[in-house]
Amino acid sequence: MLIQTSEAFDAWTKNWSSPAPTTYQGSDELAFQRWFKFKEAFSPALVRSVVDGQKKRPEHILDCCGGSGTTGVVAQFMGIESTLIEVNPFLADLIESKLANYQHVDLPSEAARVIRRAHQYKVDLAALRKRLPPTFIEPGVNERWLFSKNVAKTIESYRLAISECSDETIKRLFTTALASILIPASNVRIDGKGRRYRSNWEARNITSENVREAFLGAVGNMIEDIYRHARVERAKYNLLRGDAREQIQHIKSEVSLAIFSPPYPNSFDYTDIYNVELWMLGYFSVAADNTALRHSTLRSHVQCTWDSLGDALPSKTLTRTLEKLDDVRNTLWNRRLPEMVRSYFGDMQTLLRESSLKLSREGQIAMVVGNSSYANVLIDVPAILCELAHDMGLRTVSSKSARAMRSSIQQGSADKTLAESLVILARY
Ligand SMILES: C[S@@+](CC[C@H](N)C(=O)[O-])C[C@H]1O[C@@H](n2cnc3c(N)ncnc32)[C@H](O)[C@@H]1O
Repeated sequence: MLIQTSEAFDAWTKNWSSPAPTTYQGSDELAFQRWFKFKEAFSPALVRSVVDGQKKRPEHILDCCGGSGTTGVVAQFMGIESTLIEVNPFLADLIESKLANYQHVDLPSEAARVIRRAHQYKVDLAALRKRLPPTFIEPGVNERWLFSKNVAKTIESYRLAISECSDETIKRLFTTALASILIPASNVRIDGKGRRYRSNWEARNITSENVREAFLGAVGNMIEDIYRHARVERAKYNLLRGDAREQIQHIKSEVSLAIFSPPYPNSFDYTDIYNVELWMLGYFSVAADNTALRHSTLRSHVQCTWDSLGDALPSKTLTRTLEKLDDVRNTLWNRRLPEMVRSYFGDMQTLLRESSLKLSREGQIAMVVGNSSYANVLIDVPAILCELAHDMGLRTVSSKSARAMRSSIQQGSADKTLAESLVILARY
């Protein structure tokens, strides 16, 4: 017998509590969410509470910044159709690995076949080096490297073995398993400022055997989660791969709730943060792939320049903020930060406008957003977004502080006082 809706959600989150609603914290314990440590995720409990706060049960939920797929997983457990959009191809595969139906597959046998094939591969190290940036494999650059030769070869043998799976669903699932072990097997860790070498990295001795065990452990967790929740009736999901600024237009059916957490205007570059996965798993093969993804990603970073800023935006708070930023431009760590902030809100205006065009009469838009600050100039993100929203015929239902962003990776460790808010908008 199939189970559905809140009963399934409760069974999924039983014995789990969310210490911080807008972050991944605590999700290591939770089925599906534990598959990949996506630190910028919001909590399933936050999505559920927004769904429960709707006057009418939503029939179709949109998340235009899919990330690790939290919204889609919650929607499936609640029996609601979802559409997710994600620009990063690795994250899109992560999302789809969580939402796919595995009823037709014998996962343990498939895993055994991948492991057997991986053992048989003789990886060509020279070819692998050619495919990856020079910093990736020992001896690296300036005597630093991400992976020892043996670890890199073992990971590649798994990648090649996975690439031979004939079923795309299985390929994605095992790719997610391999993705989840990359950073732990590397000499770096990722924090809000990007990639950093671990303090004792020279002394670490990760072996090929460690890689194999970690892969097996990751696959084991996935199989356990899938089988444990196999009785949940899977609601329909749609995944749009690409830039949300364009992809939203392709949504065919009306949306009853749009919920998302966009990047924050904090110069955090998502393409950099997932660079190890994107290269090691073969999503990137030349540097131009990296540049192209940066250009399709919302403009919340200063890693690339953009041609035009477009017209002035209808927000007094933004205008004042940009004037203040311009006054302190010479003291900013990057002189292009004012343009980044301006572009960021241009992109947010596009997402709001496109989402509102898809929204049903009673539908709402819920956003988790965070403030930023440069040279003591506060970027009051909820205030600016509400002004932009009002200009396009939306009203603010509520804008409340979700918490101070103490441990959110989106905020890095720079400023522990910046607010993070849940903003809810609706049509007049
Ligand atoms: C804060 S994360 C979302 C986390 C998500 N709520 C979760 O729980 O996993 C923001 C996401 O927006 C994605 N993103 C950035 N620019 C995008 C664009 N132009 N189109 C679609 N997604 C984009 C990033 O790749 C990132 O995964």
